[in-house]
This record gives sequence, C-alpha cells and structure tokens, in this order.
Amino acid sequence: AFRASLLRFADDASAVFDEDGLLVVGPDAQGRRVVRAAGSYQALAGNFPGVAVEHLPCRIIAPGFIDLHIHFPQLDVIGSPAPGLLPWLENYTFPHESKFSDEAYAGELATFFVDELLRHGVTSALTFATSHPSSVNALMTEAQGRGMRMIAGKVLQDRHSPDGVRDQTEQSLVDTEALIQRWHGNGRLGYAITPRFAPSCTEAQLRGAGELAARYPDVWIQSHVAENLDEIAWARELFPASRSYLSIYDDFGLMRERAIYAHCIHFDDEDRALMRSTGAAAAVSPTSNLFLGSGFFDYEGARRIGFKHGLASDVGGGTSFSPFHTMLAAYYVGREGQTKPGVSLSPQNLWWQHTAGAAQALGLDGVVGNLQPGCEADFIVIDPKATPLLARKTAQAANLDELLFSLIVLGDDRAIERAVIAG
Ligand code: GUN
Ligand code: FE
Repeated sequence: AFRASLLRFADDASAVFDEDGLLVVGPDAQGRRVVRAAGSYQALAGNFPGVAVEHLPCRIIAPGFIDLHIHFPQLDVIGSPAPGLLPWLENYTFPHESKFSDEAYAGELATFFVDELLRHGVTSALTFATSHPSSVNALMTEAQGRGMRMIAGKVLQDRHSPDGVRDQTEQSLVDTEALIQRWHGNGRLGYAITPRFAPSCTEAQLRGAGELAARYPDVWIQSHVAENLDEIAWARELFPASRSYLSIYDDFGLMRERAIYAHCIHFDDEDRALMRSTGAAAAVSPTSNLFLGSGFFDYEGARRIGFKHGLASDVGGGTSFSPFHTMLAAYYVGREGQTKPGVSLSPQNLWWQHTAGAAQALGLDGVVGNLQPGCEADFIVIDPKATPLLARKTAQAANLDELLFSLIVLGDDRAIERAVIAG
C-alpha cells in the first residue's frame, strides 16, 4: 500500500482527489496486480491491518498516462523542419523508418523508446512500429520485459512509399495476421492493425486490413485521418467514390469500436457523426498539429456531436513525450483554434483525456488509466516540488484545478519521480 495524495477519476470524468490518500494494490482472482482499494487514508487504513504502507509525503499518486498515438521509430525525427506533413514524411520520416529493417537497431531503439515513455510517466501507448515485422517484435519484446500494457502494429504501406519502407500487399497481410497471433493477448500486449493512412495503401491492402479487423474484433485499428489539407486533397483524388477522407476507412470496414484515428482535424459534422455511430475514437495530437502546421482539433464540434477522443503525443510529428506538454498544447488549441469564442478546457478534463478518457477511447475503461478498485495498478508518483518554480506555484494552489494547472503548465519529466507498472 502507498500513502500519498491520490488522484483518480469518477465515471462522469470528474477528478477525485484525496489529499491524504491510500492506494492498496494486490492480486485479483486471475493473478493480475490491481487496485484493491483507493481513498482517504483515515477511512481505509483500518481495513488493512498488517499491510505494509510506504509513506510518500508531499507526493501525488496518479494514474499512469496513456498516449493514444505515438511512433516508436520517430524518436530521431522529432524537431525536423518541413513546410508540412507530406514533405516531412518524404524527407525525414520514411528515410528514418527504413533503418528499422535492421533488427539490432530496432531493438536498441525499442529500449530507448520504452525508457523515455516511462521517464515521462506514460505507462501505456498505442504505437506505430514500422512496416518491418521485426520492428513490432522488438517493441513488444521490450514492453513485455517491463510488464507494460502496450498496443502496437506493423505499418501497412504498399504504395506511394519509397523503397525501404514500402511493403507487398499479400505479404503485409500475412505478416499482420502472424503478428496478431503472436502478440495480441500475450500477457498485457495488444495488436493494432495499422494502415499508415489511406494514400499509402492500395484498395486491396485496405480491404485485407478490413477483413482482418472483422475476423479479430478485439484487435485494435490505428491510422491517420484529416490531418493536413494537401493530404486530404490527395486522399480524395485516390478514392473518389468515398464521401470524405474518413469515409474511405468506413468503406473498407475499418471503423468500429477500438479503431483510433489520429488528428481528425478537418472534419464536417457527417464525419463527426460517423465517428460517433461507429464507436471509433480520435487521438488528438496538439503538439504535432502545431509543429507541422496541420490545424486545430475542433473540441467544440467533438463535444456537440459527441464522439470519443483523448490525447496523444504523435512523436515524432509531436515535439515531446511529456503528457504535461501535450495537455498544455491541447489547452492552447481549445483557446485559440476554435470558432470564437474558444473553449477553455478544464485541467481536470485535460488530465482525463490523457488517462481515463484515453482508456475509454481504447475500450479499456476500468482496466487502465484510472486508480479505482479493479483497475490494473499502473501509476506514477509525482513530485510537485521537482523544480523551484513548480514548488512555489503548487504550494500556493488553493484547490485541485489550480494544482493540476500548475503541473500542466510548469511540469515536465522532472516531476515524474517514479512510474510503477502493475503494482
Ligand atoms: N500520416 C501518415 N504517416 C504519418 C506519420 O508518420 N505522422 C503523421 N503525423 N501523419 C502521418
Ligand atoms: Fe502519427
């Protein structure tokens, strides 16, 4: 058991905070390490006589962050300048990803990547590997060694992609199915069918991906959509029969629960309604969208129509692994990127979008992203005194919103003292 301030979320997405809290962790009937109890120390301590309590004064225990969209092979692409998405892909991203055909290289980078996630307090992620199956094996092996709940997939891209990353239609689908069988449900790991984006996939490849998605309904799907105006024009040209860019995925059976689409910026209300009716979710990636000049996720539209969404770094289009930086960028997007007047996302909502809300987008609510009883015990220990200014500011916080906002605005990896996987 751990005694510290304790942050978690109620079913209505509001935060629950115990200034002096107790988190009790132990095995459930299946032997998973889960939260047995969470609440105020005074109320709970008497129920667990003889349980050793680690006291963490002046620390906050919170759910581990979930990154809804990140590219493991793009560590070295962060901060690469380009006038927009398509030249960025061609000049930096594809050349970097081609290096992952080398298994030893992929293994080294997988270790670095997982270390970096945990250093930033991210305990679960929905991750793009590269088109090389060995890149998935490298990442899954690394995540399994740490006991992490990692979801990842081999990228499908059988056209409009250079030598070194382009795959072959038939083989790519055979490889995807073999990877599903090897990794999906293997311990805490999950597989995601991963068409890179419609312009990089032939109809045959998208059709095959949709068939796999129907045969393996609890496997995830991940892709990109409606990120950039040039990309959208290109997708529309390649798939003239589809109503919109998003509809292409629907037309190939790739929209359902557990389908996560990165960006979802340039949508109309029919697209939003399609997200809602299919149960697909958006991975909102504000640092990437600001860096690449892609545009602004429409929070007002998402709320008006009501489709699932959560936060993501989109490293290496995104500029940081830090959920604090991502939450702050989402706040900026809400303030300025909308039809006036802007939306003021609350700190509790921003935090929810990166934890319990992200879990809900994945269909894993009650499993990760929260610290309610029964949740898998992935949590972080935050030091609100990690830097001088953060210490001053958090000490003055008069309520939970002020405390969370201080962390969102001033926090970074230095405030993450520990990331604990499965208790
Ligand atoms: N669209 C297709 N591939 C990518 C990628 O790697 N990153 C981003 N941000 N968008 C994409
Ligand atoms: Fe991406």
